[in-house]
Amino acid sequence: MTIGQERLARRMARGCEFLGSEVAVMCGAMSWVSERNLVAAMSNAGGFGLIACGAMTPALLDAEIAGTKALTSKPFGVNLITMHPQLFELIEVCGRHGVTHVVLAGGLPPKGALEAIKATGAKVICFAPALSLAKKLVRSGVDALVIEGMEAGGHIGPVSTSVLAQEMLPELAEQLPVFVAGGIGRGEAIAGYLDMGAAGVQLGTRFVCATESIAHANFKKAFIRASARDAVASVQIDPRLPVIPVRALKNAGGEAFTAKQREVAQMLDEGKVAMAEAQLQIEHYWAGALRRAVIDGDVENGSLMAGQSVGMVTKEEPLADILGTLIAEAAQALEARAA
Ligand SMILES: Cc1cc2nc3c(=O)[nH]c(=O)nc-3n(C[C@H](O)[C@H](O)[C@H](O)COP(=O)(O)O)c2cc1C
Repeated sequence: MTIGQERLARRMARGCEFLGSEVAVMCGAMSWVSERNLVAAMSNAGGFGLIACGAMTPALLDAEIAGTKALTSKPFGVNLITMHPQLFELIEVCGRHGVTHVVLAGGLPPKGALEAIKATGAKVICFAPALSLAKKLVRSGVDALVIEGMEAGGHIGPVSTSVLAQEMLPELAEQLPVFVAGGIGRGEAIAGYLDMGAAGVQLGTRFVCATESIAHANFKKAFIRASARDAVASVQIDPRLPVIPVRALKNAGGEAFTAKQREVAQMLDEGKVAMAEAQLQIEHYWAGALRRAVIDGDVENGSLMAGQSVGMVTKEEPLADILGTLIAEAAQALEARAA
């Protein structure tokens, strides 16, 4: 082992122990992309894969977990969206399979969700969008946190990863493992966040073009062509209709989203829908648009959710190579640090 590798192993020890993986790197759940093949490839490579449950029914999740188990004997987790109408049934499915880690995404967990997950024996990981909420989550018993900056692909908050890391790691890192996500494309950044107290990191964008990823060839090509500035956040056009911004590559689909917001806002005006229904329509729109791009390859009208690190995605390559490069870069960066 080189000094750099040794330093990296030491800094990742807590995250590895928590995840049960060889390296403390999670492949963030990506709807339609993070299914059995990518998840198993990540866990088999020594990282930690996460199934994106998204809008799956309990039966579909059941099949996906079983399918993943057939491809890997290494630990992996499941990412559930808190607003899923069958959240508790999905938790039950995870419990039946003995899933070891459940990530709750998409807002604060509803009452009883943490307890239900913990009762299955699984560890709970939540996204913490701000320090005050992070402290609240810690008090309610979460086992680990992900802090994700606005550089990330998909649904994003308003604050950058670098600022979140500075605000949250000094306050939280001693209490529980914190994983940093958003905008990470190289190992030097991983080394930096570990130095700041992170237990590990989560990347999404960088893994989309893994050979094992089932994303359509057109989707992967769009990633390989794009640079950081092409991954833009959607804008909210109506102050009454709070939509969570989504970062995606610019295309006609992004413009269609603006039109969709106008349409839903007008329905609100006319009293044809209630606010909750209006927001749900927006979320369904994204899920459908992402499927169109990832599965059908319609990169014009579908949603090309991608983070700003997309410029560092330059080719399709086996997942183990992507992870290997990140780890080598991180070790190299730590090797260069003074003893
Ligand atoms: C195509 C795509 C789909 C995503 N879907 C989800 C999702 O369904 N649930 C979720 O919690 N995060 C989702 N994310 C966020 C990732 O899990 C991860 O946190 C993020 O990609 C990390 O930032 P990075 O893209 O800068 O690496 C998605 C990201 C991308 C790029």
